[in-house]
Amino acid sequence: MKITVLNGSPKGELSVTMQSVAYLAKIYPQHEFTILHIAQRLKRLEHDRAAFDTVIDQIRESDAVLWGFSLYILIVHAHYKRFIELIFERGAHDAFAGKYTAALSTSIHFFDHTAHNYIHAICDDLEMRFVDSFSPDMHDLLTEEGRKQLTQFGRQFLEAIENQVPTQRQYPPLISRAFSYQPTLPSAPVSTAGKKVVLLHDANLADSNLAHMVARCRSAFAGEVRVVNIHDLDMKSGCLGCLECGANYECAYTGKDGYIEFYTSTVMTADVLVYAGRMVDRYLSARWKMFFDRIFFNTHTPVLVGKQVALVIAGPLGQVPNLLEIFRGFFAFQGANLVGVVSDESGDSADLDRLLDQLMARALNYAQAGYLRPQTFLGVGGMKIFRDDIYGRLRMIFPADHRAYARMGLYKTFPQAALGTTLLNTFVVPIINLPPIRKKFDKLIKAQMVQPHKLVVAKYTN
Ligand SMILES: Cc1cc2nc3c(=O)[nH]c(=O)nc-3n(C[C@H](O)[C@H](O)[C@H](O)COP(=O)(O)O)c2cc1C
Repeated sequence: MKITVLNGSPKGELSVTMQSVAYLAKIYPQHEFTILHIAQRLKRLEHDRAAFDTVIDQIRESDAVLWGFSLYILIVHAHYKRFIELIFERGAHDAFAGKYTAALSTSIHFFDHTAHNYIHAICDDLEMRFVDSFSPDMHDLLTEEGRKQLTQFGRQFLEAIENQVPTQRQYPPLISRAFSYQPTLPSAPVSTAGKKVVLLHDANLADSNLAHMVARCRSAFAGEVRVVNIHDLDMKSGCLGCLECGANYECAYTGKDGYIEFYTSTVMTADVLVYAGRMVDRYLSARWKMFFDRIFFNTHTPVLVGKQVALVIAGPLGQVPNLLEIFRGFFAFQGANLVGVVSDESGDSADLDRLLDQLMARALNYAQAGYLRPQTFLGVGGMKIFRDDIYGRLRMIFPADHRAYARMGLYKTFPQAALGTTLLNTFVVPIINLPPIRKKFDKLIKAQMVQPHKLVVAKYTN
């Protein structure tokens, strides 16, 4: 059978993910795996229609498609995203319809599930027959168990194609409502009172819901607001995945375009950040994705700590919970506070006016109050992945992160760094676990757990 592999790594031939595909090709020599370097060749595919059509013809002639990609900022690389947009924009969707498909990524498991949700949903939108997702760690191929499971994944996929197994659509089609937003209510601007507000957006049409939402957000503030259309930013291209940034945050683009200067001087110094975007398929635009990918010049160091973030979305956000999860995870990792989200998917223009005014006022209010919600699982769990990997196996590649994590006290959250707990676990726990003591201890657990909290509360209520 002919399997076309769409490579989503900007590294092309040097992709780690593609080594898993090369392995599959070796153990299943009776099948033909053809790798197309989509992310690396995006510029060509976008500007040379014949090159794009060759890719589509290749897909048309194949028995199945394997989406092979690396994780890039909680989803796929901007160039891969753009390729997906091109499929829909250029009406090439029929080449994919009815084809068997599967997804194979490599990553460090930071929001790999949201990337896979996205690709699966795109396959459903393309009316493909989705068989399976396989998301190993970037080093799993180096282990016997990793190779064994990859072999199984390949076998399941190939057999599903051969046996034409039935598949079911998991993600319902998106329904966009026909609604034209026109700000109607008089605005009552709130003073920025010394807080720096930055509003980033990608509105490409002056008379669009997004453009009107951006205008409404701007008018909610009295005082200076920096409004930037990210289409106007001097951003040459997407992240190269070269990792030159690891040692000292020196990006391959440093001094070559305006992104880093803009990000450090405008975004990283803001108190309130408003991100306004229109949904394109099941994410924002590829331009937004490029903006997010390029943040990697800071590698894994959070640089938006304590900032208030408001999201303003044009599109059916409520139908794509995956997108909100991506934002929640991203801003949690960055240490920012996601104040709230407003989309144009419900209500009339007056409702939207009120919602946008309220969101902007709330963001400002939170900034003034220094309000930061506690992290949820997304932030707490995600940070532990980075902490462990930067302390351990990734330290050699990302020494700048290592220095930052030490400075930020992140390594103090290792359980073994808490001396009191270690002493307790070493000397006291064995005694407590002696059966007669344990029996008595178990009866006291509830009261003992709540005791320190009671003491704190007592201190403030007496
Ligand atoms: C800019 C950039 C962003 C990344 N974002 C993520 C991420 O969000 N989650 C994750 O688990 N890994 C992330 N990674 C790690 C890569 O996905 C991982 O190293 C992968 O194996 C690279 O595969 P490739 O060589 O095929 O590109 C990122 C790497 C880079 C360079």
